Amino acid sequence: MTKKYLLVLMMSSLALLTTFSSCYYDNAEDLLGSTVCDTTSVSYANDIVPIISGSCFVCHGSGSYTSAGAGILLEGYDAMSASALSGALAGVIDHAPGYSAMPKSSPQLPACDRALVRNWAAQDALNN
Ligand code: HEC
Repeated sequence: MTKKYLLVLMMSSLALLTTFSSCYYDNAEDLLGSTVCDTTSVSYANDIVPIISGSCFVCHGSGSYTSAGAGILLEGYDAMSASALSGALAGVIDHAPGYSAMPKSSPQLPACDRALVRNWAAQDALNN
C-alpha cells in the first residue's frame, strides 16, 4: 500500500516537473529571443536615460539629490556624462572596489544595463 502510494506520488511529481520545466524552457527561449544586449552604439536618450532615471533619480534626481543622494546630481546630460567619463557611474553600478555600490540598498542592475553604461562611457558619453 505504502509502496503504491509512493510510486503514484513519484509519478505525479515527475509529471508536474516535466510540465513545469517545459513551460519554463519555452518562456526562457522567448525571453532570450527578444532580449539581445546590443552595446555597439549606445544612445544617451534611448538607453542611458531610462536606466539611470529608473534606478537612480529617486535619490540623485534634481528634486532629491540634496536630501537623499549625498548632493550628487545625476539628472541631465551634463551631470550624467561627467559621472560616466570620470568612471564613477560604471564603478558604482559594477560594485567596483573604491566605489559605493549603487543603487544603494537595492539589487545590482542587470548585466546588460551595466554593459550599456560602461560602453556609453567608452564611446565618449555622447549626447546622442
Ligand atoms: C536610496 C538612495 C540612492 C539610490 C537609489 C542611488 N543612490 Fe547613489 N548614492 C546615495 C548616497 C546616500 C550616496 C553617498 C555615498 C553612500 O552613502 O554610499 C550615493 C553615492 C553615489 C555616487 C558617488 C559614490 C562614489 O563612490 O563615488 C555615485 C556615482 C552614485 N551614488 C550613483 C548612483 C547611481 C548610478 C545610482 C543608480 C544605479 C544610484 N546612485 C542610486 C544614494 C542613492
